[in-house]
Amino acid sequence: MIEARDLTKYYGRRLAIDHLTFHARKGEIVAFLGPNGAGKTTTMRILTGYMPPSEGEAKVAGFDVVEESLEVRRRVGYLPETVPLYDDMTVWDYLEFMGSLRQVPNLDDRIAEILDRVGLIDRADSFIGTLSKGMRQRVGLAQAILHQPEVLILDEPTLGLDPKQRVEVRELIREIGRERTVMLSTHILPEAQALSDRVLIINKGRIIAEDTPEELQLRLLGAQRVRLRVRGAQGAQGLVAHLQRLPGLLRLHVHDAEHLEIEAKPEEAEALRSRLARAVLDAGYDLLEMCVVSMSLEDIFLQLIQDESAEAEAPADVDLTAKEA
Ligand SMILES: Nc1ncnc2c1ncn2[C@@H]1O[C@H](COP(=O)(O)OP(=O)(O)OP(=O)(O)O)[C@@H](O)[C@H]1O
Ligand SMILES: [Mg+2]
Repeated sequence: MIEARDLTKYYGRRLAIDHLTFHARKGEIVAFLGPNGAGKTTTMRILTGYMPPSEGEAKVAGFDVVEESLEVRRRVGYLPETVPLYDDMTVWDYLEFMGSLRQVPNLDDRIAEILDRVGLIDRADSFIGTLSKGMRQRVGLAQAILHQPEVLILDEPTLGLDPKQRVEVRELIREIGRERTVMLSTHILPEAQALSDRVLIINKGRIIAEDTPEELQLRLLGAQRVRLRVRGAQGAQGLVAHLQRLPGLLRLHVHDAEHLEIEAKPEEAEALRSRLARAVLDAGYDLLEMCVVSMSLEDIFLQLIQDESAEAEAPADVDLTAKEA
């Protein structure tokens, strides 16, 4: 269990995270998804008790990360962004060292089991300095789960792994997540979607969206966006209401005098495009342009940030049905 309220961190005068409130329950995998500098690592360092927040509070496995940081560290497995490894130790010796610090019972068996899980059993006697980047990452993961912690905090767990390894590590995380609480960070949208039960999108230190991967998919990716330019669209309430009733349409935004943007169910997107074109023309309007808007992760952030700032001023979604009623 992770509970954070109003977590805020300043580095000097730089605000790194800004009143983050979130939670992760037992058996849940929560992903922090955000671009570089969003505040993912900062948040995770606070959650693991390595750094106090400037404001706010967090409890991990029932313990306060500031007041009871030792208890927290005992119960948390942490894969830091850069794993501090000892190059002149063998993989086995390193895990033995970490395991004895944490008083792991049946340590030898446990190490063998973990090495097998992370695909490094044949490198047990290799010096860490001789491992590839992905292998080092897996050693980091191995030490994070060695003591079977209640809570796992994984900062970009699949960074530097090859595709096959990525799949295997995800599998492993999913398995662990069934019985524990996992919070991971990533800047890869498909990864957040593949792995997590809930995604928190973080940008510039703020959570700007929170959703299940399915919803996120629908809202942001799976939903195809189509932009229309229709002469005189704004104020044409009848037309817009008519378009809104077209089958396959999920959302409709009126951007400005001429631009409409719609989201379509992916499987109906193509049919919807022809329905849209026909509906506009049938209603006697000029369709000046129609294009499919493809969305990259950057677009998604931009969209969310825009939605967010627009919400502060005016509703982003024009609810025309309400206006007409
Ligand atoms: N030790 C530090 N001293 C000063 N500023 C810092 C420090 N660590 C992070 N920051 C700043 O805090 C903000 C958040 O950084 P953070 O490392 O938490 O982002 P992140 O989401 O983990 O990014 P990335 O995807 O690049 O790992 C950034 O503006 C960063 O420059
Ligand atoms: Mg980071």
